[in-house]
Amino acid sequence: MGLVYYLKQTGLGRQFKRMLRAFPTKASQNRLLRMLRKLHPGELLQPPTLPEPYRLLHNAPGDEDRWLELLNASGEFGYWSRERFHQEIGATLLAAGGVFVARGNELVGCASTCFMEQYKPYAILMYVTVLPEHRGQGLGQALVWETMRVARQENYPGLLLHTEKHRYAAVRTYFQLGFLPQFGYEVAGQRLWSDVLSRALLNGFE
Ligand SMILES: CC(C)(COP(=O)(O)OP(=O)(O)OC[C@H]1O[C@@H](n2cnc3c(N)ncnc32)[C@H](O)[C@@H]1OP(=O)(O)O)[C@@H](O)C(=O)NCCC(=O)NCCS
Repeated sequence: MGLVYYLKQTGLGRQFKRMLRAFPTKASQNRLLRMLRKLHPGELLQPPTLPEPYRLLHNAPGDEDRWLELLNASGEFGYWSRERFHQEIGATLLAAGGVFVARGNELVGCASTCFMEQYKPYAILMYVTVLPEHRGQGLGQALVWETMRVARQENYPGLLLHTEKHRYAAVRTYFQLGFLPQFGYEVAGQRLWSDVLSRALLNGFE
C-alpha cells in the first residue's frame, strides 16, 4: 500500500494538512497588520487639542527638507533621500495631507495622508512618527486624528494603514481612535492580531 493511499484511507492526510495550516509559518508571522478607520458621512471630527507649547500644522510648499530631516532624525523608517520622499510620500499626498506637530519652529512629529489606487476607496495613512523625547503626551493621537479629519474632509469613506507587529504604541494609538484590524490577502490574520492586541492593549508595555 502506497503512503498516499494509506493517508487517504486513514484520514491522516487531512489531519496532517489541518495541522500544517494551524502552524504559523515564518512568512505569516511577519505580515503587515492592516487597520481601517471608517469615516461616516455624518461624523463630525473636531480639531484635536495639543498640550502647550505644541501646535499642529499642515504641509506647505518648501516643507520638504524639514520633513525629510524629521523622518531621518526619527530613525524609524530607514534612510530618506529626496527621491524616496517624492516616490513614497510626495507623489501620493492629499492636499493638506501632511500633518506636523511643531514646538516653536522645530518639527517633532509627522504623519502623511495619501491616496493610492490600490487601496481605493480609502485614503491611506503612512509614516506616523513622533521624536522619542516628545512621546507620551498625546501628540501621536493628535497627529492621527488630524489625518482622519483630512480624509473625512476629502470625502473618503475611511482611512487605511499598515503597521508592523512590534509597534505596540502605534497599534494602541490607532485602536483608541477607532481603527480596527482588517484581514485580507497577505496581511496579518487572526492569530497574529490576537498576539499583538493582547500585548498592545492588555499586557502592559514591553
Ligand atoms: C506611535 C507614536 C507615533 C505614538 O506617539 P506618542 O506621541 O507617544 O503617542 P501618544 O502620547 O498620543 O499615545 C501613545 C499611546 O501608546 C502608549 N504606549 C507608549 N508606549 C507603548 C508601548 N511600548 N506599548 C504599548 N503602548 C504604548 C501610550 O501609553 C499611549 O496610550 P495611552 O493613551 O493609553 O496611555 C510613537 O510612539 C512613535 O513615533 N513610534 C515610532 C514610530 C511608529 O511606530 N510609527 C507608526 C508606524 S505605523
